[in-house]
Amino acid sequence: AAEADLSGRHVVVSAGGTREPLDPVRYLGNRSSGKQGYALARTAAARGARVTLVSANAALPDPAGVDVVHVGTAVQLREAVLKATADADAVVMAAAVADFRPATYAAGKIKKKDGQEPEPIVLVRNPDILAEIAGERPRPGQVVVGFAAETDDVLANGRAKLERKGCDLLVVNEVGERKTFGAEENEAVVLGADGSETPVPHGPKEALADIVWDLVSQRLT
Ligand code: PMT
Repeated sequence: AAEADLSGRHVVVSAGGTREPLDPVRYLGNRSSGKQGYALARTAAARGARVTLVSANAALPDPAGVDVVHVGTAVQLREAVLKATADADAVVMAAAVADFRPATYAAGKIKKKDGQEPEPIVLVRNPDILAEIAGERPRPGQVVVGFAAETDDVLANGRAKLERKGCDLLVVNEVGERKTFGAEENEAVVLGADGSETPVPHGPKEALADIVWDLVSQRLT
C-alpha cells in the first residue's frame, strides 16, 4: 500500500458491540471487543485519512489522531454513523450491531417475584444501518464495506449477505465463543460485489485492516 494513499479522504469506521438495555442494570449485548474496528481506524489514520470512529462499548483507549464518537445502542450508532457518513469517502461497518432490541425499557430494575414465572422478553427489530447506507449512498462514489460474523457455512452466508445488504465489499470472518471476538488476530475472506474473493490468512487484525483499505483504495474515484 502506498504510504499516504488515503490522504484527503474522510473514512468512517464503526467498532465494538451495541448494548440494548432492558432496565438500568441489564442489557442484551455481544462479545465484540472493538479491536478489529480500532485496528481499521488506526491503519486508515496511518495512511493519511481523516477518520471518524463510532465506538460502541469498547474498553479501548481512543486512537491518536482519530475523531471518536462513543455510543451505546444500535439506534445511537445509526445516528452517529449517518451523521459522519454525509461527507465520507468510505464507510466500514465493523461493529457488531444488535438486530433486535427489547420492546420495552423498565425505568426501574426488573424484580423477580416469588413463585412467578419470569416475564418473556419481547424484541423488536433494529434498523439495518449497513443496508441503509449502501442503499442511499449519501455521497456519490462512496465505498461501503460490511463485516459478517458467521459461525457456519461462512462463505455461502457471506455471499448472500453481501447481496442482501448491497455493499461493495463484505469481510467474512468466523466467530465463536473463543474465536475472533477479543482476539489480537483474525482471518477472513473479503468478498467483492464484482465477484472477487480475497482470502486473508490468519494474522494481526491490523494486517486484515490494511488489506481492507487496499481494496477500498482501489475502488475510490
Ligand atoms: O471487536 P472484535 O472483538 O475485534 O471482533 C471483531 C468482529 C468479529 C466483531 C468483527 O470482525 C465483525 O465481524 N463485525 C461484524 C459483526 C456483525 O454484526 O456481523 P453481522 O453478520 O451480524 O452483520 C453484518 C453487517 O451488517 C455488519 O457490517 C454490521 O455492522 C451490519 N449491521 C448489522 C445489523 C444491523 N442492525 N445493522 C448493521 O449495520
